[in-house]
Formats: sequence, structure tokens, C-alpha cells
Amino acid sequence: MTATKKLYIKTYGCQMNVYDSERMSEALGGAGYETTDSPDGADMILLNTCHIREKAAEKVYSELGRFKRLKAENPELKIGVAGCVAQAEGEEIMRRQPLVDLVVGPQSYHRLPEMEARTRGGERAIDTDFPEEDKFEKLRSRPKARRGPAAFLTVQEGCDKFCAFCVVPYTRGAEMSRPVDRVMSEARDLVERGVREVTLLGQNVNAYHGQGPTGEYSLARLIRTLSDIDGLERIRFTTSHPNDMTDDLIAAHGECEKLMPYLHLPVQSGSDRILKRMNRSHTAESYLRLIERIRAARPDILISGDFIVGFPEETDADFQATMDLIEAVHYGQAFSFKYSTRPGTPAAERAQVDPDVATDRLHRLQALISRQQRAVQDSMVGREVSVLFEKPGRLPGQMVGKSDHLHAVHVADSNASVGEISRVRIEDSGPNSLAGVIL
Ligand code: SAH
Ligand code: SF4
Ligand code: F3S
Repeated sequence: MTATKKLYIKTYGCQMNVYDSERMSEALGGAGYETTDSPDGADMILLNTCHIREKAAEKVYSELGRFKRLKAENPELKIGVAGCVAQAEGEEIMRRQPLVDLVVGPQSYHRLPEMEARTRGGERAIDTDFPEEDKFEKLRSRPKARRGPAAFLTVQEGCDKFCAFCVVPYTRGAEMSRPVDRVMSEARDLVERGVREVTLLGQNVNAYHGQGPTGEYSLARLIRTLSDIDGLERIRFTTSHPNDMTDDLIAAHGECEKLMPYLHLPVQSGSDRILKRMNRSHTAESYLRLIERIRAARPDILISGDFIVGFPEETDADFQATMDLIEAVHYGQAFSFKYSTRPGTPAAERAQVDPDVATDRLHRLQALISRQQRAVQDSMVGREVSVLFEKPGRLPGQMVGKSDHLHAVHVADSNASVGEISRVRIEDSGPNSLAGVIL
């Protein structure tokens, strides 16, 4: 029996990276590793990276530089880079940073234990293939240990949409959907381990079309099938593309009790001219009509979005169109970014917007979004919501959880335990969370 080795994983980027980090730590669990929450004293450090914007990618190199001291203290320490920077710049990482022992792209995680073994033999290992075999089939089955009540579950990966600004189709590869029975057994497994809520993940999750026992399943059909699992109480999904919001998925929001009233539906811009240049293949108007139909199916749904400001050639009028769209939708949540030039994407070649102008637009957009977010959160006061408790709060007796609309909610002096779902009356709305009492 070999002694347990320590693995430290640092995760950047989107929820799929959070899911992948969990799967990598499970895969390396089979190779004698257990995870630790500090890089000090670790036998292996893995950075699970994000390439979406320039800043995200640059962080990797500065972080790696900091591990020099640890490697000097422990020459046996292995350093690995996973995720989307690994996929996009694997060779360059190896060249620029001799400290790195291992580079593994998102489609090769099942090969990690074997790669780790090679590094123990003194090799530097790199794998950024898009292999034929399905990594999910080959990844170790999930251990039975108990875990927190909310979990991510990847059902779809990759993207064929090729928005003109985005690296994801290059780093994650072509769209693929996991078969229904695999998703079902992983979900049942999670429920056995204490999970009450799953968030189905995919870069274009609503383009899901997995093979099931009776033909091909849409995301809506998958959600309805997952709803039959006893003990699984809540289902969410992210991220969706407006063009894949089908009638059956809209209907599911009205019919499926376990499907939570929250939808992240990025639009990026409110200007048709810019949407066209972004290769989004929808218009501002079609997006607004879609939101209307979704709200007709589920009137209290909270809409969330993503926005890019300062996309090449964006004028003041284009930006104003985005602000108008935001006014029309009234978002409960939104993420907004200054356009970042990504090498190899079509938009990188075009006339860039003055960075100060882009910064000013970002601030104005974020101020509007904050007002809307706050108004939606404040409108919860006096209402009864359901809350899934995820952890104890900082004060004695306090518990913290998420409402069906994904607001953070805390209750004082409660006997509730982690994993419990309670009816809560909201009494107050603070800067980042709601406060309530259990009914
Ligand atoms: N697959 C998801 C997530 C993509 S990345 C989707 O399609 O929505 C998350 C967000 O990052 C995008 O929605 C977009 O708003 C932003 N983003 C992507 N590329 C970017 C870039 N080059 N510069 C700035 N923001 C970007
Ligand atoms: Fe990127 Fe567009 Fe695909 Fe989303 S839909 S991952 S923004 S290319
Ligand atoms: Fe980043 Fe890759 Fe996710 S680029 S946002 S980690 S898919």
C-alpha cells in the first residue's frame, strides 16, 4: 500500500471547470491522491485554467511563477496545467515554464493517472488531443462519499456556434451530448451521496441531444426524465443559447415542478448590427420575443444574461441599443465584460474600440444591471420561497442556502440542517443576500 499523496487543484473559469476539477481529483484518487486546500506540502499541483479573456489566461503564468519556491523545497512536486489554456497554449506553456511537468486538455482528463505516472518517471507529459474515445466512459466511477447538497453535472460539452469573439469552440471542441443512461446513473449516484439539486452543464446545454432508451432526447425530455428520480428535488441548467430555446424547453419551465425558475440566457448585445458581426444569428427583437414566451410559460422566472461591451466597431448607438434591451428585459442577474481580443478568433482582426470608451460603457451598463438586480432581489421581501440549505452561516445557529430563484438566503436561530429544503418568508434584502424566517 503506497502512502497517500496530496493533490492541490486551483480552478478558474466556468462551472464546467468546477465539475472537471472534481472529476480529475476523483481520477487521481485512484492513483493514491487525496485533495488538500493548500499548495504548501502538496505532491501535485494542478491549475485548471480558463482562456476566455486575456486576463484569465495571463493569470496562469503568474501563478506558475509562484510555485518556483515550492518546487525548490520539494523537487518531487509535480506541476500540471489543465483546462482551456492548456488546450490553447499547451506547447507554449511547456516552453515558457520549465517548472511544468504535465499539460492536459479538457478532452483527455481520463488519461491523467497514466500521465501522472509518466511524470513520476521523470518525463514531461502533454496531451491536448481530441481523442475518439469518450472521456466520460473512461473516467473512474464516482466514489460513494457524502458531499454537499448542490452539484454540477456535465451533460453536453463543446460548441459549434463560433461566435466571432469566443475561444470555446477551439478549446472544448465540437458539440457532444452524453447518453441519457449515463446522465441518469450519475444523477442517481449524486442523490445517494446527499445531493438534492443538480445543475446540468454544457457550453450550449440546450443543444443537448443525447441517445436515450427510446431514441434521441432533447434537454427538456432529459429534465422530465431526471424529475422521476426520488430525492432529487431541484434541477437547473446552464448555459443556453437563444437559438436552441425550443418550444418543449419553454413548456418545461411551466410544467416541470423540479425545474427552478431561473434561466441564464446570454444575448451579448442589443444591436442587430453588432449581433450580426458577432455571428450570433439572432436579433435583439427575436431575443425579446423569446423572453416574452418564456415568461408566459413561467411568469416569475428570473432572467440572467451575459454582455460584451466594446466589441470591434461598436458605436454609441450600438451601445445604447444594448442599454435599451436591458431596460426591456429587466434582468435579475447579469455578467458583463469588456471585449477581450482572443488570438485566432475572427473578431481579433477588426478595428478595436478605444479602451477608455469601452470602460465607460462597461461602468454604465453595470450600474443599470445592479439597479435591476437589486430591484428584483428587493421584490422578494414579504414573499415565501423555498430554500435549500447548503452550509452554516458565520453566526451561531445561522444557516445559508439558495432560493429557487438562486438568491442567497440566510436564516437566524434555525434548527435546519444542510441539505434540508424549507419554506422561508423573506423579511429583508441586503447588499448580497436575503434574510428570512423558516415557516
Ligand atoms: N458557452 C457559454 C459561455 C461562454 S463564455 C455561452 O455561450 O454563453 C461566458 C461569457 O464570456 C460569454 O457569454 C461572453 O459574454 C463572455 N466572453 C466570451 N468571449 C469573450 C471575449 N473575447 N471578450 C469578452 N467577453 C467574452
Ligand atoms: Fe462561445 Fe458563442 Fe459558443 Fe457561447 S455560443 S461558447 S459564446 S462560441
Ligand atoms: Fe473558460 Fe474554458 Fe470555461 S475558456 S469559461 S474554462 S469553457
